[in-house]
Amino acid sequence: MTNILLVTSSPRGAESLSSRFANEIAEGLKARLSATVITRNLAVNPPPHIGRAYIDGRVAAAEARTPDQVEAVGLAQTMVDEVKAADIIVLGSGMINFGLPSPLKAWFDHITWPGVTFGYSEAGPHGLLTGKKVYLVTAAGGIFSQGEWAAFDFQTGYLRHLLGFIGLTDVEVIRVEGTVFGPEAAQAAIAATEAQLHAVLEKAA
Ligand SMILES: Cc1cc2nc3c(=O)[nH]c(=O)nc-3n(C[C@H](O)[C@H](O)[C@H](O)COP(=O)(O)O)c2cc1C
Repeated sequence: MTNILLVTSSPRGAESLSSRFANEIAEGLKARLSATVITRNLAVNPPPHIGRAYIDGRVAAAEARTPDQVEAVGLAQTMVDEVKAADIIVLGSGMINFGLPSPLKAWFDHITWPGVTFGYSEAGPHGLLTGKKVYLVTAAGGIFSQGEWAAFDFQTGYLRHLLGFIGLTDVEVIRVEGTVFGPEAAQAAIAATEAQLHAVLEKAA
């Protein structure tokens, strides 16, 4: 059985394009691969910012943790377990002020865990979550895949880096961008993403 983890993070609810396309990919893969889908909507259920209890708790011996640390580490462990259990991760992110939505950043802060999802060796850090496929949907109002604004895309490249750092290096990026230049441009952008999405699903089948 193939397990899919669908993570969405846009605060824009039903208007969200990253959530819409991430959902479409997860549903398309589910039908093609007879997979199960676990959904984590980080906008509806945002993880807390990481704090002292998590930072200290994750390096403390389990039996020495305070109740606050047990709770904080347990929450992170739940998120890590979901990622570990997944064969495929579908991630939706809509650009907020040139970066990713803050709940998604908080999610990465919980799952990027030394000794658990990445390790260090003499050769440097290495990711431990290997052998998984990631479909990354990034939405943005402007155009960042090329042109003069490409240097200000602190979303797609950063997400790729965060994923790669914990071993998730097999990443297929699906962009929906250029939606702020009027209704016609938005329609064209959405149609382009639809076409890309169909190609991605055909390849996956
Ligand atoms: C609070 C806020 C900040 C945004 N910041 C940017 C930005 O910095 N650059 C940009 O190109 N678009 C920006 N946008 C537009 C969104 O990236 C665009 O609507 C995208 O589709 C959002 O993803 P979503 O559809 O999944 O919600 C912003 C939108 C909101 C609501």
